[in-house]
Amino acid sequence: MMIKPLAIFCFFALFALSNADIQANKLFELLKSKRSRNSDVLNTWNLLDEATDEYSPVYIAPQDGLAQLDKIVALPGQPAGADINQYSGYVTVNPTAGRALFYYFVESPTDSASKPLVLWLNGGPGCSSMIGAFSELGPFRINSDGKTLFTNDYAWSNVANMLFLESPAGVGFSYSNTSSDYNHAGDKNTAADAYVFLVNWLERFPQYKTRDFYISGESYAGHYVPQLAYTIILNNKKTNQTIVNIKGIAIGNAWIDDETCSKGLFDHLWTHALNSDETHDAIFKYCDFASNSSSAMCDNVTNKAFDEMGDIDAYDIYAPICLTPNQRNTSTIPGSINNFDPCWKFILNFYLNDSMVQKALHVKPTSWDYCSDVIPGWTDSAVTILPIIKYLIENGQRLWVYSGDTDARVPITSSRYSINALKLPIETAWRPWYLNKEVGGYLEAYKGLLLITVRGAGHTVPSSQPQRALALFSSFLEGILPPSS
Ligand SMILES: *[C@@H]1O[C@H](CO)[C@@H](O)[C@H](O)[C@H]1NC(C)=O
Ligand SMILES: *[C@@H]1O[C@H](CO)[C@@H](O)[C@H](O)[C@H]1NC(C)=O
Ligand SMILES: *[C@@H]1O[C@H](CO)[C@@H](O)[C@H](O)[C@H]1NC(C)=O
Ligand SMILES: *[C@@H]1O[C@H](CO)[C@@H](O)[C@H](O)[C@H]1NC(C)=O
Ligand SMILES: *[C@@H]1O[C@H](CO)[C@@H](O)[C@H](O)[C@H]1NC(C)=O
Ligand SMILES: *[C@@H]1O[C@H](CO)[C@@H](O)[C@H](O)[C@H]1NC(C)=O
Repeated sequence: MMIKPLAIFCFFALFALSNADIQANKLFELLKSKRSRNSDVLNTWNLLDEATDEYSPVYIAPQDGLAQLDKIVALPGQPAGADINQYSGYVTVNPTAGRALFYYFVESPTDSASKPLVLWLNGGPGCSSMIGAFSELGPFRINSDGKTLFTNDYAWSNVANMLFLESPAGVGFSYSNTSSDYNHAGDKNTAADAYVFLVNWLERFPQYKTRDFYISGESYAGHYVPQLAYTIILNNKKTNQTIVNIKGIAIGNAWIDDETCSKGLFDHLWTHALNSDETHDAIFKYCDFASNSSSAMCDNVTNKAFDEMGDIDAYDIYAPICLTPNQRNTSTIPGSINNFDPCWKFILNFYLNDSMVQKALHVKPTSWDYCSDVIPGWTDSAVTILPIIKYLIENGQRLWVYSGDTDARVPITSSRYSINALKLPIETAWRPWYLNKEVGGYLEAYKGLLLITVRGAGHTVPSSQPQRALALFSSFLEGILPPSS
């Protein structure tokens, strides 16, 4: 079920099975292969090359009438009386190859015309944005039975029109009829296809063409989101086709710089009582995270660091783990938004792999999985996204970096070290932010970028802290800091 690394040298010990195979594990496989000897993962994303390129028109197909065909009548198991406009289907991004990306779109139930359009991307690389749609911030969550849905009172569609994209081809329902396409999955092609998707989707839903547009995502989407935003801005400057009205990005527990994120990870393990002093010292003695290659000693001590953690949920270190993955809870009592099921990925898989659900979503029969097993490797992955972050700031984009503070995979220390490397002037000093008289988290505003934490949230922030996550997201869209008391 794992993406096979391109070059095999020695692996980070993967976490115990119960926690294996979700977004950040794909990330660690990739990092491992990037830092291995003989790696053929290209590490660069050269801003200048692309900036000087001539614009070449992208594929745009007529989309008349397709939106109506994509309208979802009702999702199987949807609560009675749920009155929302949902759409889903494929958008072709390359007709020659026969490559199409799947989307799920939820219009805000109230006053949708006055609300922005937000694209959501999960990470991996190679994991599905249906994780976000059905386990984090979408209008429904799946009950523990894997068959029925309950309403998420804190859905992000309360404040925005939410577009979820499965990307690149090979992830979830997104596919290519040219199977060799799967061998070319990487940062660059992912951004290029997502851009073509977007301009075609805007033809299908033309009422959104001039709407304020934002992109949000988490984990390895710390690459996808800034890279797509960059692609859009670059094309907006040159295109005679669609201008996308992008205003900003919000990225959560985002991997944006290999060196600082790696250091932050091991410091977090140590300061959260998950690692010994000896192992922590050895890591900083033997590992050079600035280098693009690892050493046997470094691999040995990083493996030790993961062993020392034991079988905990590294994505949410104080949460229970999934002990009965294949035993679905048949209780008729509906699930609760305040009680996140640790077996969520099995539940998600059960629901989206159901043929009636796939029919309702307008997709062909697919063995749906939350992380891709058809993409054999990742061809290019920038070592750092910081130059793109700088470019976005210089181009006036709103930029929020948020972090659930109980995640040990892409922890708050990783985000802090990465942002520190940008050396931005501080505009609002570190302070708590409040929701319902409780501290929702902490924030520090830099010139051009906001760092904000969510207290008690793991890697998938809205899963465990839905109310705080929605408060944060609303503040982001309004462009105001959440309250200081
Ligand atoms: C790793 O770094 C070396 C030296 O800086 C460079 O020559 C090489 O191309 C890099 N390898 C990759 C895969 O980027
Ligand atoms: C892929 O092939 C199938 C079967 O020929 C076809 O129905 C479908 O439209 C093709 N997909 C794309 C995106 O062209
Ligand atoms: C856009 O420019 C390209 C060449 O750069 C040209 O082929 C195309 O016809 C133009 N399209 C429109 C809509 O003007
Ligand atoms: C690290 O190396 C030591 C000595 O060779 C070995 O005993 C140990 O098993 C290794 N640990 C890991 C986690 O690979
Ligand atoms: C099943 O779900 C119900 C309602 O949420 C809960 O009370 C019960 O403890 C769950 N049982 C198991 C075995 O998880
Ligand atoms: C999805 O369902 C099909 C048919 O029941 C099954 O063969 C396949 O293994 C399932 N895939 C996953 C990822 O669970």
